[in-house]
Amino acid sequence: MKTAVLLLTAALAAPSATAQALDPVIEKKVDALLQQMTLEEKVGQLNQYSSAFDPTGPAPTEGGAADVYKQIKAGQVGSLLNVLGADATRKAQQLAVENSRLKIPLFFGYDVIHGYRTIFPVPLGESASWNMEAIERSARIAATEAAAAGQHWTFAPMVDVSRDPRWGRIMEGAGEDTYLGARIAAARVKGFQGKDLAAVDSLAACAKHFAAYGFGEAGRDYNTADISEQTLRNVVLPPFKAALDAGAATFMNSFNEIGGIPATGSVHLQRDILKGEWGFSGMVVSDWGSIGEMIDHGYAANLKDAAHIALNAGSDMDMESRAYLPHLPGLVKSGAVDVKLVDDAARRVLRLKFRLGLFDDPYRHSDVAREKATLGKAEFVTAAREIARDSMVLLKNDGLLPLAKNVGTIAVIGPLANDKDSPLGNWRGTGVANSAVSLLEGIEAAVSPQTKVVHAVGAALATGQRGFPIEVVYNTSDRSGFPAAVEAAKSADVVVLALGEDAFQSGEGRSQADIRLKGLQNELLEAVLAVNTKVVVVLMNGRPLAIPEVDKSAPAILEAWFAGSQAGHAIADVLFGDANPSGKLPSGFPRAVGQLPYSYSHKNTGRPGPKTEVFWAHHTDLTNDPLYPFGFGLSYTTFAYGNVKASAPAFDKTGSVTISATLTNTGKRAGTEVVQLYVRDLVGSTTRPVKELKGFERVTLQAGASKDVTFTLKAADLAFYTAAGRWEAEPGAFKAMIGGNSRDVQEVAFSLR
Ligand code: BGC
Repeated sequence: MKTAVLLLTAALAAPSATAQALDPVIEKKVDALLQQMTLEEKVGQLNQYSSAFDPTGPAPTEGGAADVYKQIKAGQVGSLLNVLGADATRKAQQLAVENSRLKIPLFFGYDVIHGYRTIFPVPLGESASWNMEAIERSARIAATEAAAAGQHWTFAPMVDVSRDPRWGRIMEGAGEDTYLGARIAAARVKGFQGKDLAAVDSLAACAKHFAAYGFGEAGRDYNTADISEQTLRNVVLPPFKAALDAGAATFMNSFNEIGGIPATGSVHLQRDILKGEWGFSGMVVSDWGSIGEMIDHGYAANLKDAAHIALNAGSDMDMESRAYLPHLPGLVKSGAVDVKLVDDAARRVLRLKFRLGLFDDPYRHSDVAREKATLGKAEFVTAAREIARDSMVLLKNDGLLPLAKNVGTIAVIGPLANDKDSPLGNWRGTGVANSAVSLLEGIEAAVSPQTKVVHAVGAALATGQRGFPIEVVYNTSDRSGFPAAVEAAKSADVVVLALGEDAFQSGEGRSQADIRLKGLQNELLEAVLAVNTKVVVVLMNGRPLAIPEVDKSAPAILEAWFAGSQAGHAIADVLFGDANPSGKLPSGFPRAVGQLPYSYSHKNTGRPGPKTEVFWAHHTDLTNDPLYPFGFGLSYTTFAYGNVKASAPAFDKTGSVTISATLTNTGKRAGTEVVQLYVRDLVGSTTRPVKELKGFERVTLQAGASKDVTFTLKAADLAFYTAAGRWEAEPGAFKAMIGGNSRDVQEVAFSLR
């Protein structure tokens, strides 16, 4: 038994200066309710099940669902996940509110990741917009739909920084960067929660997975993360802190261990940092089964032990480990667990129920008429198209794009060309299968009436059955569609070739050792290029891919991601120039898997090179740089940067310095550029990265126009977790760098006194 020795005073530490404010009226109500509750009822609030019961059929009389019914009535369930729809949630709520002794309402949670019914680009794709208003708006719409369909709580945003695209869940986050990730975390929390958690269209957000889940070794899901306290504090935690500062009502812990301690059992993460240093007053839910998985980790002897460890460590709600309900009452009665820890956890759950307004009206989110009127509203669909457009990244363009709408014949080829399902991506809420606008449909709707559109699949990506939760089996041998694709390409003025991933190739459990294009896709590209050189490759995928072959041979490449319900229209908007692409990669694209994990924000090492001899930090068979760096993305116009300067050579801790540049649109059409500011701290008490993003601004300029773009840096912006174990800026020399991506920058020196 390895239960950490825990001083109760420390466990329930007084919140820090940054603590989330409490509402005294709610606190009083929680106090009063807790006083009436038995130990079993308190533990019941900490219990969450996934529901599989069918609300339209008769109530089951025995077995799993029947037991859940009984437990709800007995006050032994605090929350359910995966109960979908206003009707189903109302019926489940009735069980609690009309039958249980204290009539404490349930709350309902669901993974509303990138839309509930109207589906937006996968989070990684949407992050490529660097457009905080757009990102907040999509979360707002997702919350509006889900809250009309019975949900109170989304298990989002996932704010895990990841530098390893082998990890399938990189799709769910904001990519490789801490600063961008923090900005996006805040935008998503604000979008989900709206202005008031008690509003009928708000969802409680959940910052997940706390912490370091994105740092699993070899990019393998659920794997060990062995990272230093410096990396944890400087790279992993800031997006969580940003989510908390934006008001995130809940956190979810993670499956991985760090330094030998499973996150679910980590006092350091949950008690010391989250609830102690940061003063988090919300609730921590375990990840699915993660309390019980501490047995497999070899950290708990049995489920009882696991319950003990998890509660001590600050995991308030047990999602599907079924550990708390059977074991916590006994642990308290035997004196092994202090009842104050149960009280604290139950208080956090009840606080949220009050904040959501559920004690005023437990059915407020379960309104069938509102659900009907809300899901898939026309304005939401329009927003999905706009946000998808903003998310696209132009990776290469030898001048083929934008296409003319009156082109004679256009061939739309490839396994994803007329796929109406993959654009919805993984974790697609209740998005209806095969409901996305395909690329072919988008192109057909955009071109002139005289244009002939021909279509051929070429080669299917997968064989056999596809979809959740089946593993994708790739097509590596069926070339029977090649001749038709080659014929179509031959006859066309231009080819649009859709390549990438199956919808369920990225996402949870979908880590891959090889992130090159699967199946026969590179071969198909070659076959098409052999008969027509005018090929635009449109990529649909949930993760950065290793595509050196495509980069070498295709004249134009548009990264469209899994762009959601309106994918085909949004892609066509960009291909034909109705929208000028402005997306920038939130995660670099490697040249090869062997470079991973990789970030632009790496350390310099003692042997940075490049040197003539072999003894420096490199691979002897490949350059160190990625194929497309973080922050990279082209436009149909061009931008020039000049006049990069600092307002002063030095500033002190109470002051600030401004770093500015003049941006000029040097091309022939209006466009939007994401101006990026990076900083390097030259000497630190621990080594600092070669570059760190510290600011960005989306700037729209007419052709020929210029604008001065200015960023203000204060000491706080230069702060990091120092060798002294404090978050602070250290005086010394810095470099500021400004540019349109993390590679092509101009620099200026300044120092902090
Ligand atoms: C995932 C979480 C998710 C939960 C509930 C887990 O497998 O890791 O991110 O919220 O399931 O669906």
